[in-house]
Amino acid sequence: MTDNFSKDVLKGLTAKSKHLPSKYFYDDNGSRIFQEIMNMPEYYPTNAEFEILSMQSKQIIEALKFSGPFNIVELGAGDGFKTFKLLEYLVNNKVDFHYIPIDISQEAIDILTQRLKEKLPALKIHPKVGDYFEILKDNRQSDFPSLLLFLGGNIGNYLEDKVKELLELFNKNMKRGDKLLIGFDLKKNPITIQNAYYDKHGITKRFNLNLLVRINRELDADFKIDDFDFYCHYNPMTGDVKSYIVSLRKQTVHLKAINEFIHFDYDELIWTELSKKYALEEINDLAENADFKVENNFLDCKHYFTDSLWTK
Ligand code: AVI
Repeated sequence: MTDNFSKDVLKGLTAKSKHLPSKYFYDDNGSRIFQEIMNMPEYYPTNAEFEILSMQSKQIIEALKFSGPFNIVELGAGDGFKTFKLLEYLVNNKVDFHYIPIDISQEAIDILTQRLKEKLPALKIHPKVGDYFEILKDNRQSDFPSLLLFLGGNIGNYLEDKVKELLELFNKNMKRGDKLLIGFDLKKNPITIQNAYYDKHGITKRFNLNLLVRINRELDADFKIDDFDFYCHYNPMTGDVKSYIVSLRKQTVHLKAINEFIHFDYDELIWTELSKKYALEEINDLAENADFKVENNFLDCKHYFTDSLWTK
């Protein structure tokens, strides 16, 4: 893990245009800061998706058209906050299903399992810790149809080629007739988006700068955090929110663990994250290109977000 981290950090910081992968935001501290982001009133995706899953569980389940028992496999289940409403609906209606949450974090899975066992004792839960794709391979062997969940708009953080790759991998590990419920943040008034990502509380700034704190800790580096700032910009034409760390002066940072020196110019940028916003037509194209059919789009009342239901 540290090995990949140091390789990716070095590759990103020695590139002509510096960049760092956003997946490294999520160390323990970064995950806690992300929780703070999700609780900000400006970060609309939390409430939008919660509304969809709490108000439209019945419609989502009916649209699956599964006739008998089935599995719900959740990729990157995290704290399971959003999914709870869907699970609660199913348990209360005595639907026969098994819930298989998958997450890379043992801690997240333990918390989720304990909470669900308390709140929904009748739920049949089979938590798994590890890499989605390794675990997903079992899905093809199952005798039951599956609903895969990839919620929270995580797809928006992947670059175009990776999105294609990811959807193709999902498809490869699904059986004919299996469904995928996948969350997409939608294009909307640019000001709403700008306020959610360039937040006035500075939480997203802290989230980004935490990446430098992580490099200091894991690669024994000497980033002076106060010498860096955060900038983020939404381009309504492309739907891209791009986030950057900005070097506030010309400076050199030593990554002692790998004995590398990185030079920064005054105002030089490190691109840290893409968070893409989609139009419904783009979602349709993505699905078709990966050999899926869009069954329904479940939207919140403001049309900020969709949980899109696809069939293989
Ligand atoms: C995890 N992901 C869907 C978040 C997003 O909205 O792109 C991460 C995030 N970055 C800044 N704010 C939230």
